Amino acid sequence: MVKILQIEGISLQFGGVKALNDVSFHIEEGEIFSLIGPNGAGKTSMLNCISGLYHPSQGSIKYKDEEITKMKAYSRTNLGIARAFQNIALFEHMSVLDNLMLGRHTLMKSGPFSGGFYFGKAEKEEVDNREHVEQVIEFLDLQEIRHTPVERLAYGQQKRVEVGRALALSPELILLDEPMAGMNKVEKERMAQLILKMKDNGITVVLIEHDLGVVMRLSDHIAVLDFGKQIGFGTPNEVQENPEVIKAYIGENVS
Ligand SMILES: Nc1ncnc2c1ncn2[C@@H]1O[C@H](COP(=O)(O)OP(=O)(O)OP(=O)(O)O)[C@@H](O)[C@H]1O
Ligand SMILES: [Mg+2]
Repeated sequence: MVKILQIEGISLQFGGVKALNDVSFHIEEGEIFSLIGPNGAGKTSMLNCISGLYHPSQGSIKYKDEEITKMKAYSRTNLGIARAFQNIALFEHMSVLDNLMLGRHTLMKSGPFSGGFYFGKAEKEEVDNREHVEQVIEFLDLQEIRHTPVERLAYGQQKRVEVGRALALSPELILLDEPMAGMNKVEKERMAQLILKMKDNGITVVLIEHDLGVVMRLSDHIAVLDFGKQIGFGTPNEVQENPEVIKAYIGENVS
């Protein structure tokens, strides 16, 4: 078992609010790992600490044994960590294809200046980007809407494109913040299948999701947060049988 991510003693404070309070867990390479807990428990805050949007006041985050706690977000993207947002972060007027290409450009190594001097290299990179984005379009079945401006898509489709934006970055670790929120049953099942397919392709998945049926079915391990504190960690069976978790969360959420 290889630990791809190690979270140790992470605390994060906003004024008087302890969004995260001494949270520790690890994520194994190639698994689907879920973060669950009530609204305001600190799930998104934890993803923000992993992706580099927030910097914790205490604790350490290691990615493949490298200390990344203070690393800038874009450097983490280059290391292979990509993130899909709870609130969709797409350019509404742009097409699906352009949104995916734009995400990919943040990874371009040649940069706008070297592009002029090393045209061949930049051109090759552009071709690679296009090929990769085409694979993502195929993977997420976005062919029919590839040229549609995002603002004209149904919410469920926008969520799929938001996941695509993260996938376009060729991540080894993908962070999905409620990718199924607001979806109907069919769309949800489709997203569940896509998440399993990501795992089949060797991508490690961190999933935040409120639908416990989906969480228990997909996850290899689960961490449970409540008011910023970790109250449970383990396999779906272990978490489901944890009295503290049942009391704080699962009790009211079993459908
Ligand atoms: N940028 C911020 N400024 C101030 N407070 C914040 C900020 N981000 C999060 N918080 C607070 O931290 C706590 C945890 O919020 P967080 O968004 O991480 O919860 P969550 O588990 O993702 O909830 P939800 O299920 O509703 O998405 C909440 O009390 C929230 O109000
Ligand atoms: Mg959240």
